[in-house]
Amino acid sequence: MTASTDLAIGYSDGDVDTNNTANPTLNALIEQRYSRRDTLRSGASAAAVAVFGGGILAACDSANAGADPSPNLISVGSSGSATSGQVVTLTSNATDNGPITSAWVQTGGPAVTLIGASSPNASFIAPSVASTTTLSFQYSATDSAGQTTQGTTTAAISPAALRFTSLSKNKNDVVTVPAGYTVTVMTRLGDPIAPGVAAYKNDGTDTNFAQRIGDHGDALYWYGLSAAGARDDNNSVRGLMVQNHENLNVQYLHPAGPTNTLPRPEAEAIKEIEAHGVSVTEYVEGANRAWTYVQNSTFNRRITPNTPVVFNGPVKGTHWLFTAFSNDGTAGRGTINNCANGHTLWGTNITCEENWAGYFARPSADNATRSPRELVALRRYGVTSTNGNYGWASVVPADASNTVFKRWDARATGASATADYRNEPNQFGWCVEFDPYDKAAAPRKRTALGRLGHEGAWLGKLTPGKKVSVYLGDDSRGEYFYKFVSNANWDAADAQSANRLSIGDKYLDAGTLYVAKFAANGTGSWVPLTFGTVPNRPAQGSDIEYVFESQADILVNTRLAGDAVGATRMDRPEWTATNPATGEIYLTLTNNNAGTRPLNGTDAANPRHYNDPTGPSNSAQFGNPNGHILRLRENGDDPASLTFAWDIYLFGADSADSNSDVNISGLTAANDFSSPDGLWFSRPTNAGGLVKPLLWIQTDDGAFTDRTNNQMLVAIPGTVGDGAAVTITNRGTGGATATQTTRRGALATDATLKRFLIGPVECEITGVDSTPDGRTLFVGIQHPGENGTPASPSSAWPANQATGSAPAGTRPRSAIVAITKNDGGVVGL
Ligand code: FEO
Ligand code: CA
Ligand code: CA
Ligand code: CA
Repeated sequence: MTASTDLAIGYSDGDVDTNNTANPTLNALIEQRYSRRDTLRSGASAAAVAVFGGGILAACDSANAGADPSPNLISVGSSGSATSGQVVTLTSNATDNGPITSAWVQTGGPAVTLIGASSPNASFIAPSVASTTTLSFQYSATDSAGQTTQGTTTAAISPAALRFTSLSKNKNDVVTVPAGYTVTVMTRLGDPIAPGVAAYKNDGTDTNFAQRIGDHGDALYWYGLSAAGARDDNNSVRGLMVQNHENLNVQYLHPAGPTNTLPRPEAEAIKEIEAHGVSVTEYVEGANRAWTYVQNSTFNRRITPNTPVVFNGPVKGTHWLFTAFSNDGTAGRGTINNCANGHTLWGTNITCEENWAGYFARPSADNATRSPRELVALRRYGVTSTNGNYGWASVVPADASNTVFKRWDARATGASATADYRNEPNQFGWCVEFDPYDKAAAPRKRTALGRLGHEGAWLGKLTPGKKVSVYLGDDSRGEYFYKFVSNANWDAADAQSANRLSIGDKYLDAGTLYVAKFAANGTGSWVPLTFGTVPNRPAQGSDIEYVFESQADILVNTRLAGDAVGATRMDRPEWTATNPATGEIYLTLTNNNAGTRPLNGTDAANPRHYNDPTGPSNSAQFGNPNGHILRLRENGDDPASLTFAWDIYLFGADSADSNSDVNISGLTAANDFSSPDGLWFSRPTNAGGLVKPLLWIQTDDGAFTDRTNNQMLVAIPGTVGDGAAVTITNRGTGGATATQTTRRGALATDATLKRFLIGPVECEITGVDSTPDGRTLFVGIQHPGENGTPASPSSAWPANQATGSAPAGTRPRSAIVAITKNDGGVVGL
């Protein structure tokens, strides 16, 4: 064969030279092919390509027609237009008198990764765009003689939209997702995560939960893992799933439910304790998008209430933490009631201790042995249970030296704090950072972030040279919202440090803790909780005036400090989420009741008091039974700002029986919800988390379950201040009314808020993350069938997910589901 001129066709109009993709330019491809055939002569690089309009055939083989025709390109096209995150297919139809090879390259527009670039039909995921943007592509068909015919096509990409049909509410005992999506059940309560551990029988006889998935899966997060087994933040097919295990459906953990007499049997207590904590489990995506977990992965780990931990920050080594286990207050055992979490840009996880107080036994007779100061603190945190939630302190262990049960006895029974566990409650209520990639490293309790009923710990948007901020909700009725600000400025080089926990030391051990005050005019302030500036907490009821003795005191008794500075009492601060595009902070305020916040107890940030006249028991539900989502923007977008602007993004409501004083956001049957809890923005590594990122809202509701099981919605929110000030009329019992002004965000529409998932019977939806590419979404289904009995479970999920049924008596299990879009696109778009 000679170097025929038929290859040097047409011209380059410059398009290929402005291609900003990583793909080889057309010139490069042509040069490669010349090079292969060793026919490239000086001057022959004028070889280029005719560029034709999309879908127009190109036949360019005049010279050799007849003997060996070039491929005949019948059509080149694409699926035309799409929105960000959708799969776009590029098609071609070429014929020749022999085999042809195909090559697609991108010639214009934002770079995309072509799948099947050497096939007649290629595809790509539409990139994130802020306005309609045209991408162009060129197709080449090459015959066995090396003769090429080319054509081009384009695809117009529009900004992201929620393209699925919003689900109708239901009370089915399965996970429901929109048409076009697939649910895969992943790790479930009891699944073995170590070699040799038996499959879970799920009949109450299983043991060894320190090597199984724990109960009540809560917050979760995906940590990518490379093929070589190293941290790889961008890996979407292999990773470590980190999940909290908050609490128990204790009735299903034992053959006939728990033994409800004291002392509790040791074997039962061991299971119950070990079923709490955190799990780290390797997940992989196999062929045909099949997701599985790896039972024998060396990365798999359980952190339980018995796992050794250390203390960091200002409280470390202070008398507040002295116990019989840790005489110097530097170490402790485990973590409990791990609710939500946080993740850092340096690759660690922050698991948070929420409702820890109730696990401790401290009968009222202990009051006589405590100082008035101690009693103020113990009452404020609710360390007042007679036996503790599960009676673990009552266990009489076979080994009398074993203190893993005794530690839950918070009475002062010894000669000093180092002789008993009176201070063990001070060892809980913290944010606990650990390294998912290093199972040998002890978790570190970050005391600088204060001691609360910590829901979670969410970092604000990180900016090099600025402080690191962490937003912290204290989830109890009337509790506060906090922010921690590091002393150190963010150094982007720290993100990939090999010593991840030392980076945590740098940013999370030294800084200032603030608490939020919300003003009626849509502004707010952060009040520092710094020793020397926090006034005494005044005497109230049987509490004496509380005089703080040190910064450690403020951090151990953070709620008292919040009281002292007059922080705004909130309607139960649950999750926080940071909008990755704007840096705005969203906060779920899940609900409140009339007992904690009466008709005259509203304020602009917690503005509603009403009755949801229907409910699961058809009884009155006064207060704010449906909750709301508040958002704020730091002034100057500075994480260290002491002031902010806020509004209320969404108000939960039952659209069927609410007036405009209640259904303030204009919800419809297609998107109404109650009790927002889990909250998460799509990752900015895919189209879901860019330009106008998707916000996922999960519910933990008891007020709306007459209408639907708990659910997850997805929204495309605007920004703080996109709505208006409104004055509503609140209505209490007996026809009493009061007006309240608040600041609502833009009204919801059926296009900007949709119902994406509904869970099985009696579950809560909590925990959500995706792979970095956004093509697999992981969602936590917590405590299905929580009101059932061992003899008569009220849910069979997840055993019934695939077929809709399961054998009678099947016990429910908390579990994670992986959700994929059948066409391979970004979930939700
Ligand atoms: Fe464990 Fe506040 O939810
Ligand atoms: Ca209702
Ligand atoms: Ca929660
Ligand atoms: Ca729950």
